[in-house]
Amino acid sequence: MRETTFSPLEAPTDTTLNTAVQILRSGNLVAIPTETVYGLAASALDDKAVAKVYALKGRPQLNPLIIHFATSEALKPHVQWTAQAEALAAAFWPGPLTLVLRKTTTSPISLLATAGLDTVAVRIPSHPVAQALLERLQGPLAAPSANPSQRISPTTALDVQQAFPNSPDLGLILDGGPCRVGLESTILDLTGENPVILRPGYLDAAALEAVLGKPVVYGHLQKALHIKAPGMLARHYAPQKPLRLEAQHVEPTEALLSFGPKPLDGATHSLNLSPTGDLIEAAAHLFSYLRQLDQTQSSGIAVMPIPNTGIGIALNDRLQRAATSVKVG
Ligand code: TXA
Ligand code: MG
Repeated sequence: MRETTFSPLEAPTDTTLNTAVQILRSGNLVAIPTETVYGLAASALDDKAVAKVYALKGRPQLNPLIIHFATSEALKPHVQWTAQAEALAAAFWPGPLTLVLRKTTTSPISLLATAGLDTVAVRIPSHPVAQALLERLQGPLAAPSANPSQRISPTTALDVQQAFPNSPDLGLILDGGPCRVGLESTILDLTGENPVILRPGYLDAAALEAVLGKPVVYGHLQKALHIKAPGMLARHYAPQKPLRLEAQHVEPTEALLSFGPKPLDGATHSLNLSPTGDLIEAAAHLFSYLRQLDQTQSSGIAVMPIPNTGIGIALNDRLQRAATSVKVG
């Protein structure tokens, strides 16, 4: 019988923090303590590393991730900063508050991490180990809670280690002790007319209202994403050109999004999500390749079948949404 191997768990020292930076720069994952819960972190600028996060967590859909920064100065170029954000940042950052803001068009944050939306969820964690790592990395981290999808969020390093046995992509777990808050951050959406709490957390509506000087209501995260996503997808994620899924051939006027070692013949414009048939690589390329093919002179985009296993389920989910979304105008 094969022995179970666990990712290394280390106390934060100069050496282990430097190792963590190297692992992140090489496109692999590090589990990090934050004051709320442990996060499964990848460089937020690296599509392929972000794809590994989705794959390891087994997220059924490409649910967008929270992007962590060391300081508001590092964060500002990525978002449309507002007076409300400024007030909340002054009061609660670093700390257990996540703000949903509009993403700038120049931000190099992975499209996969934001699931192709034009908004981004950002926060500045206060945990000294998370801070130290972000400062050394000199770049943002995409980090969902470090638990397999549908399972309880981890509040100790050991929880993380036990949750992901035999996971070579998870290069290191930094042990920062038990999390102080133990509950995920409050997510506040500042992109609408009124501020809406999409996920309740340590900071409640009254605390936020006291700073903003206006009412803050509780919305529903899933509902918010559900309602928001189709509109967002129609404008930003779904290509303008029609998508034809499960293609077994290419029409002469079509562009081709292929997958695997045997791409279909006959397309003038063609991009391969993964010539080796690697679903993680495919997920990493999905959004940018769709965008590129959408800009070609072609009547539509034919998409070859993608296996519906692992992260392939999320890929097919996104492709189906893109194929069926209603085009406006
Ligand atoms: O405390 C926390 O926030 C922890 C630590 C590690 O920082 N992170 C965390 O991440 O809980 P995660 O991925 O488990 O939860 C992120 C939530 C998801 O439910 C996602 O739908 C929502 O944030 N989210 C991310 N981007 C969003 C966006 N642009 N608009 C609305 N919701 C968003
Ligand atoms: Mg979570």
